[in-house]
Amino acid sequence: MTQELILRRPDDWHLHLRDGAMLQGVLPETARHFARAIIMPNLVPPVVTLAQAEAYRGRILAALPKGAAFEPLMTLYLTEGSDPADVAAAAASGLVKAVKLYPAGATTNSHSGVRNLDNVMPVLEKMAEIGLPLCTHGEVTTAEVDIFDREAVFIDTVLDPLRRRLPDLRIVMEHITTEEGVAYARAGGANLGATITTHHLIINRNHILVGGIKPHYYCLPVAKREKHRLALRAAATSGEGSFFLGTDSAPHVDALKEHACGCAGCFTATNTMALLAHVFEEDGALDKLEAFASLNGPAFYGLPVNETRMRLVKHELPQTFPEKILTEAGPVTVFDPGFPVHWHVEP
Ligand code: NCD
Ligand code: ZN
Repeated sequence: MTQELILRRPDDWHLHLRDGAMLQGVLPETARHFARAIIMPNLVPPVVTLAQAEAYRGRILAALPKGAAFEPLMTLYLTEGSDPADVAAAAASGLVKAVKLYPAGATTNSHSGVRNLDNVMPVLEKMAEIGLPLCTHGEVTTAEVDIFDREAVFIDTVLDPLRRRLPDLRIVMEHITTEEGVAYARAGGANLGATITTHHLIINRNHILVGGIKPHYYCLPVAKREKHRLALRAAATSGEGSFFLGTDSAPHVDALKEHACGCAGCFTATNTMALLAHVFEEDGALDKLEAFASLNGPAFYGLPVNETRMRLVKHELPQTFPEKILTEAGPVTVFDPGFPVHWHVEP
């Protein structure tokens, strides 16, 4: 028996589109299903200024397939040289919806990120004043801190002190991966939100490491133990307004994933919505998928919800997804959940 689910068209509140040939290759995968996405600014060089964000937005719009209705919501990459006046102008332009904090060294292309928060306080104060959200990559980078503890230590030593110092600053904890992240976001009130990826609802660290190393499951923050995955599942499927979808779909060509020093990132743009329907159904929460994917994000960002709808159908037979997206930059492997998926997005 087929089953059907109709949702408001979803948005992706954390997405990597890259640039050039990769952008051209991966953008259709997102634009097919999502109305809007918060576009991460970690290009080389990073998108720091309003002028750079406007130019990047133009390249995204130019790469859209004909007839696609997709709105890129731009972000600025916070550096210790970022100018509060430029950030304020970016917010006033309406094109830039957030600023992204990468602790220097935390992840892909984060070397221009922030070493000392004191050096960006004037920008953060301006953002608190005008209500422009800060998206945080919430991991400390100190060598002594174990990679599996970096999110929890960030919350205690960076995020919580920052929120006490600037209670009016609106913050999104991006791609949370731990029960500590869930608990902190849940208790944070109206100025705090958290995105959760599709892949962190599906894999734990065993999937990366047991039975041979699986480079396509390696991303940052790295997947944690099973109890954390279960906490993320409970949060995402709760429908609570603090939690919304940010796929963190992060394409890298296979040659750089299947490498002695493989890049971090899972590419889920192609099958995210079908996977989420599977996950939410498994947890008896199909009725909460719309809140997670289509309602809670716009509410946090103060944007209208989408008026068009998406139709998902559960088929008798498992559905097939492309194993790879072939871009002019090289093939990009699509995230494999490791189980059959019967849901499919239908026109
Ligand atoms: C992202 C990337 O490749 O840009 N990688 C990842 O593993 N998530 C960066 C990021 O969001 O950390
Ligand atoms: Zn990311």
